[in-house]
This record gives sequence, C-alpha cells and structure tokens, in this order.
Amino acid sequence: MSSELICFDHECRARYAITEVLYNCPKCGGLLEAVYGQPAQSVEQWKSLWRARRTSNAPLDQSGVWRYRELIPFLDDFAGVVTLREGNTPLLPGRMAAEYGNLDAITFKHQGFNPTGSFKDNGMTCGVAQALRLGMTRVACVSTGNTSASMAAYASAAGLEPVIFIPHGNIAFGKLAQALEYGAKTIQVEANFDQILALVRHLAERLGIYLLNSINPFRIEGQKTIMAEMLDQRDWRVPDWVVLPGGNLGNISAFGKGLREMRELGLIPRLPRLAVIQAEGAAPFYELMHSRDRTRLHAVEHPQTLATAIRIGDPVSWPKAVLEITASNGVVEKVTEQEIADAKAVIGRCGIGCEPASAATLAGIRKLTSAGVIAADADVVAVLTGNVLKDADYIHQYHTGILKAPDGTPIMPRFGNPPIMLPNNSDEIAAFLSN
Ligand code: F0G
Repeated sequence: MSSELICFDHECRARYAITEVLYNCPKCGGLLEAVYGQPAQSVEQWKSLWRARRTSNAPLDQSGVWRYRELIPFLDDFAGVVTLREGNTPLLPGRMAAEYGNLDAITFKHQGFNPTGSFKDNGMTCGVAQALRLGMTRVACVSTGNTSASMAAYASAAGLEPVIFIPHGNIAFGKLAQALEYGAKTIQVEANFDQILALVRHLAERLGIYLLNSINPFRIEGQKTIMAEMLDQRDWRVPDWVVLPGGNLGNISAFGKGLREMRELGLIPRLPRLAVIQAEGAAPFYELMHSRDRTRLHAVEHPQTLATAIRIGDPVSWPKAVLEITASNGVVEKVTEQEIADAKAVIGRCGIGCEPASAATLAGIRKLTSAGVIAADADVVAVLTGNVLKDADYIHQYHTGILKAPDGTPIMPRFGNPPIMLPNNSDEIAAFLSN
C-alpha cells in the first residue's frame, strides 16, 4: 500500500516520500504525519485476522503493535522489525477506583505492562524499525524517563547506538537505571525538557542522528495501535470516553488519529470522546483549550509537577491535539498534586498501581463526573500510561506523610498506608495483628 508523509498544517499539506528523514515540514515547519492509500484487502477480514494472530508463535503476530500492521503500513517489508512483544496490555476493572471517580464502573488499559514499563514501547518499535529502514546507526531522544528507557531497549536490541538526553535531577531514578542497563549513552543537561528538546533537534540534524521523540511520526503510528488493541479486546465495542494524561501530547495525537482512521475504514461506527488530563503546574494545553484563540499555545516557562512524565511546558504536538479533542468532542481538564497523589493511591488499592502521571486520569475523571461532563453510567476507559515501580520515592513519601508539592505544600496522605515498626517480639506482633 502506498504511504507518504504529509504536512499536518491544513493550509500547507505538502507531501514527502516516506523514506525522507524529516520531523517537521521543510516548507512551513508544520508537524508531519504518515498517510496511506486505500487498503487492497477487505477491511472486515482484518478483525478475524488480528484475532487469529493472537494464537500465533510468529514474533510479529505476538507483538501488540505489529499484530495490527494493516493499520500502520509504512514499511515495505518487516524483516528488520525488532519486537520485545510490546503491547498486549490488559484491560482491568477497578471497583474502588470507579467509586472514587463517581462512576458505576471503570476500565483501565494498563500500558505499564509493557516491556520497559510504559506506552512508549508501542511507538518505539515503529520508530526503531523506521531508523533501521533509513540506514541510521544512532538514535537520540530527550526524555523525562519513559522514552529514554524504551528507546535504549529497542535501539540496543536492534543494534543501534542510543543517545539519551535527560533534564538534570528531573528523572525518575528507576528510568535512568534502565537506560544505563540497556547501554544508552546518557547525557544529563542542566535545562528542562523543552529546552533540551530544542537542543537535541538541532544536534540530530547536525550529526545525522535519528530523532525518536514523539515528534517522530512513526512513533505516533505505533501508539495508534493502543486504541486498536483496546477495541479488539472489547470485541469492538466503542467506549463513551477514553481518558489519558497529556504532556508533550504525542499520545492524544496518536489515539485520535488511530480512532479516526478506524472509523473511516469502517472498523468502528463512531468515535469515543477523548479527555486529556494535565497537572495544574504544567497545563498549557488546558489553558489553550479554555481560551478563545486556539491558534497559539502559550508555553509554561517553568512547568512544575511531581508527575515528572508530564512536566512539559511547551508540548510540540499541540496542533494535532487540538484537532483530536475537537474531532472527538473531547475535553481537557487539569488536576492538583494532591488530587494526583490520592488518585494514584486509590488505583494502587485496586491492586493495579501506576505512576503519578497515569493517575492524573482518575483524578480528572473525578472532577469531570462531579462537573456533570462524564455521566456516572458512562463506559470509560482510562489509560494508565506507566508502571507503579516508577517514582518509588514518591510512593514511600506519600504513604509516610512527607510528600510535598513542588511549591512546598504538604500533600496529605488521605489513603496513606505507612509501614509499621514493631519489636522482635511475637506477643506484641500477635497483639497488633489481633486488633
Ligand atoms: N504518561 C507517561 C507515563 C509518560 O511517560 C508520558 C510522557 C506521558 C504520560 C505524556 O504523554 O507526551 O504523549 O502527552 N513521557 C515523556 C518521556 C515525555 O520523556 O518519557 P505525551
């Protein structure tokens, strides 16, 4: 099937070969996206084909991304694809979380079950496949944590050299540990995410390194399959809402594109409404969508939140995100540090757990149901983007009552569960456990 890159700017729409090394439109500077011609096969067969592949032992079929390869046909052949069996993430119910979110029921799509612990793996397998196809030998990204771990793993698995840039002192330790373990050249820079992204874009061009931040359109293609897998797991029943956290806004762009394409192909009859949740101290997209002029985003110069994954003040994919929120009749909400922390603990109590950024979903849902935007009986899928093991310090500090917001405000451990110190004495321990 024919595939091309096209400028996202509706006034430009310049087209480029799928094999050009581009991140922005050379004509107007706009974002790029992959587009495809009409599929040769009947689309109705795809659903049974995808279902049948779940029992296959072929690596591509076992991948929760490449299983849906008909939706992302940008490669001519799949010989070079490296899969760590990404995707395949479960849909999980959470009774206490539903109650907390004022919902009859809730479904979590838990992307933290991915090989490196976040949804980034869905996109990275595609970004790395494109890097190989282009003959690149080095790949780079700036990251608040998850992207770096994911890129390091996939690049090393593919025999590419990963170079990672991270904001000094602002990355979860576990993520840094992963990047080191997977063999990435790891460079810490005294600047924030947005500043380093500008630097890395420049360096990538200068040194011929392939950039694998979510501005890369092939990462977006891979992340689309999160929605395909979710629908496949629900026997193609479209939820009323899909709720996700927003940082650089790559994921909302991917989900929206994937869902619109699936509707155009006739795989689903309608779109779910999309809700993006941001942290109050890093909410430029919330401000944009609540302003009259949606043509210019005002960056937050010093974004602040303990949810480091979404600590982004100048999200690159905002024009795509505006389209997806508008097309799906969606909404954007923002939540406080306290709200994120409490929602995270509630998700933990369900035996599920997630990282702080992911918990913004439930915090946002609670606000949106209280405001009457989401109905109590709505069919809601909340996407937990990352694993509970990220930010272990945060968890311990919350439960022991010493967690503080970036501005120093103490966060109350409303769902705190601190460890209990007891002497090495069976009577005392037995007395304690008998209460
Ligand atoms: N949730 C998690 C767990 C993330 O790691 C990220 C982004 C987001 C949500 C936000 O997604 O940027 O597509 O809106 N993390 C990036 C990183 C920036 O470097 O790992 P987005």
